[in-house]
Amino acid sequence: MYTIGAEEVEAVRRVIESGQLFRYRGGEGGETDKFEAEWSEKIGVKHTIAVTSGTAALACAVVGLGIGPGDEVIVPAYTFMASALAALMAGAVPIIAEVDESLTLDPADVERKITPRTKAIMPVYMNGWPCDMDAIMAIAAKHGLKVVEDACQADGGSYKGKRLGSIGHTAGFSFNQFKIISCGEGGAMTTNDDAAYERALIYHDGGCCFRAHAAELGVEFFAGSNFRTNEILSAILRVQLTRLDGILAGLRAEKKTIVAELSGESAFSFNPVRDPDGDCGSSVALLFESADAAKSFQQRLSENGVGSSCPIDSGRHVYVNWEPILNQHGAHHPKLDPFKLADVPVQYSEDMCPRTLDLLARTICLGTWPTRSKDDLMDMISKVKKAARGVISS
Ligand SMILES: Cc1ncc(COP(=O)(O)O)c(C=O)c1O
Repeated sequence: MYTIGAEEVEAVRRVIESGQLFRYRGGEGGETDKFEAEWSEKIGVKHTIAVTSGTAALACAVVGLGIGPGDEVIVPAYTFMASALAALMAGAVPIIAEVDESLTLDPADVERKITPRTKAIMPVYMNGWPCDMDAIMAIAAKHGLKVVEDACQADGGSYKGKRLGSIGHTAGFSFNQFKIISCGEGGAMTTNDDAAYERALIYHDGGCCFRAHAAELGVEFFAGSNFRTNEILSAILRVQLTRLDGILAGLRAEKKTIVAELSGESAFSFNPVRDPDGDCGSSVALLFESADAAKSFQQRLSENGVGSSCPIDSGRHVYVNWEPILNQHGAHHPKLDPFKLADVPVQYSEDMCPRTLDLLARTICLGTWPTRSKDDLMDMISKVKKAARGVISS
């Protein structure tokens, strides 16, 4: 979250004073319905369902496509574990594929991981970086697969002129504290597919069959859950949405300056970005020859008071740390465990994606900030240059 203030406070006050906090049973046409319409317009999709988290949004996105036990969903080895959890929530198993230098899903490895059980590919826009969606959509079309976009870290980003979350068959966004726009905890599922929307609508609201819109649904009801959001969170998100393009412009401007200023440095190269114009701009990734060189640079940066992150140290974002998944504990009860329901046993090991581990250890990420002053930015850049010149390269 980059900006929040008086407008959000005023929006929350308005909802509380109205006494209508629930999105249904009197809340129809209110903040949540309006946010969904506004988000659909921003992203360029037919349907949005606002939910309680990005994880819930992704689960809706997978369930909406009718994916379930016996099915496999390909996810990248570098993502928050929630991408894999969403497949499990639907009853399917995650199959873990390598990322390439862009630190997003490697299309070549996706193709290697396809089996007769594969139903979907889940590209993840880590740090707001677009994936190679042309390649991923082509692979999906060739093999008759669905694409579920994990746009949780990429609210508002785009790929070749289309907003992320409008390219695949379904998508999930997150609005938790650490995302580009936020209401503390929240998410949204998007799709152009009417049936996927209706199934997700039922799944996200266990009381769906009692709602006024129930009679309009064309798919059969099933037992859902409850990932409904509320009017307070939606009111916050409506204000946050008005800030989105300004935040992205600020992040992108910073990234552009950083890339231009550092482009002559020889200690590192830039991790390729699949569409620099659509990149959210929230992170600049620098790729070193070796993990030692990356660490030495990070150490020197820190001595100069500049914060940075090495993706291999990000814990929850690296598959080797997804303990419940690697141990194949896929549910609270064995009879609901997707790993036990799988037609063919899944094989995982800590060394199954060596290229990802190597790339993550050789990368250092610099953060951007939309409201940082030009002087502070240039000061940071000069410290980065200084740190780069003393890097031990072996
Ligand atoms: C790539 C990715 N996918 C999914 C999620 C899940 O989002 P949430 O925390 O809102 O459930 C996150 C959030 O951290 C994420 O970064």
